[in-house]
Amino acid sequence: MSPLIAPSILAADFANLQREVEMLNLSEADYIHVDIMDGVFVPNISFGIPVTEAIHRHAKKPLDIHLMIVNPDNYLEAFRNAGAEVISVHYEACNHLHRTLQAIHDLGAKAGVAINPHTPVELLSDVIQDIDQVIIMSVNPGFGGQKFIENTYSKVSRLKDLILAKGAKTKIEIDGGVNLQNAPKLLTAGADVFVAGSFVFNSSDPVQTISQLKSIRLV
Ligand code: DX5
Ligand code: ZN
Repeated sequence: MSPLIAPSILAADFANLQREVEMLNLSEADYIHVDIMDGVFVPNISFGIPVTEAIHRHAKKPLDIHLMIVNPDNYLEAFRNAGAEVISVHYEACNHLHRTLQAIHDLGAKAGVAINPHTPVELLSDVIQDIDQVIIMSVNPGFGGQKFIENTYSKVSRLKDLILAKGAKTKIEIDGGVNLQNAPKLLTAGADVFVAGSFVFNSSDPVQTISQLKSIRLV
């Protein structure tokens, strides 16, 4: 089975967003990953709702919104209205995660939960059936272009076992430092979706790089 590919627009040329989105439209990308950072949950600020709407106006691929913000409940509807197909919140930012997941589903979107590198996958055990996608952070969230954390492989295998044991349909997305070296091993460990920012946008031919990621098979 081919992995799903979600290029992260965070690494795009923001002065030419329309052109970048059109490039992704023509590629084999399955989603456009949109990183929202508030400068509180993470030590960086990216962009917000109007820019997400602008991306959505040109996008022919579904938007995979990654909220790295505190109080995400306050913004779920706004991001759904801005075009989100999948909305992921951080486990570490939610006091009432089950309620937040219900709220995302009530808006008609798919619900995702992102976990930081220090957060064990086992903490999702009692809500896994309510989660469409878990984002395993393979870097500390806040910046593109960081080094992949090797402990991620073990987290992916353990999460895959948990999903199978619970009979859930949850997909596993890997976010941070993904490239052609680590992606085959991640796929074998149980990953379904690869986010790739700098590896795609800093390459000389992003469409071809997306295609190379898409053609990875189990090793
Ligand atoms: C990190 C973001 C990532 C980032 C990935 O906080 O959540 O989605 O854009 O970028 P790369 O692929 O460059 O690590
Ligand atoms: Zn992300």
